[in-house]
Amino acid sequence: MKENVQEILQKANNLQYNFHIAIKVSKLLDDDNASINDLSKLIEADQALTVKLLKHCNSAEYGFSKRVTTVKDAIARIGFKILKTMIFTIVSKSSFNQEIKGYGLEKGDLWRNSISCAVYSRYLAKLIDYNDPDQAFTAGLLRDIGKLILHEYVRKEYDEIERLVNKENITFSEAEEKIIGLNHCQLGALVADKWNFPQILIDTIKYHHNPEKAEQDECEDMDLLRIVHFADYLTVMLGYGIGKDSMLQEIDMDCVESLGPPLCNENMESLISDIVNLNPEIEHLISNLE
Ligand SMILES: [Fe+2]
Repeated sequence: MKENVQEILQKANNLQYNFHIAIKVSKLLDDDNASINDLSKLIEADQALTVKLLKHCNSAEYGFSKRVTTVKDAIARIGFKILKTMIFTIVSKSSFNQEIKGYGLEKGDLWRNSISCAVYSRYLAKLIDYNDPDQAFTAGLLRDIGKLILHEYVRKEYDEIERLVNKENITFSEAEEKIIGLNHCQLGALVADKWNFPQILIDTIKYHHNPEKAEQDECEDMDLLRIVHFADYLTVMLGYGIGKDSMLQEIDMDCVESLGPPLCNENMESLISDIVNLNPEIEHLISNLE
């Protein structure tokens, strides 16, 4: 089935179309010479995005006493980092909020799952004093982006993948790689690389189910990867939009515990109740982007 790989990569180009503004905003934010003017011009060229961005900025979450009425004003108030996560969240919806048949996900499931993973990632990042919680949000949001393309192939090969999982006692993503030629993590990383994402984001997408492999490959930012690995597990555990593959992945608790005392086994019970308390934030984000 490895002849599929070229065809699959070709399909990644179609996905780029949906994300093109977010990619441009992301690039502009990495440019030290970028100004609020440049950013607002880019965003205002997309009317639907502008409306959603202003609506989101005016939601109770930000609590601005004076209404935000222009993109320039929005950027000045929320700052570049939040702007980036907001734009990615808004543009992701059209791609993630659809039926993903190969993974047994109904319309809305992958969207809810991705938002949950993003919110949990940001929470965990703050808990361990990770230096960029907003980056953790984006990494959690996009970690399964490869599924958007790979699901068609998983659908065709599902019986064979499941057979291999049982026969060889391997994880779903390992079986995906053996049968299709690459798994959703590797595909997502290729997409992120093509979009010139920072290396730490590419690595997080690539290894979110296999942090031990990232250690072998000496990835630059293991903490971000561990955060997303654990947030992915929590999302499945709490039943947020889980698919056919979710129960066939593994959690590496040693890797999670290496994030420090807040994530040690003894603190797990209180951590889980704190995580459950994030549900209203997830619901708010989802309904605010309707
Ligand atoms: Fe995944």
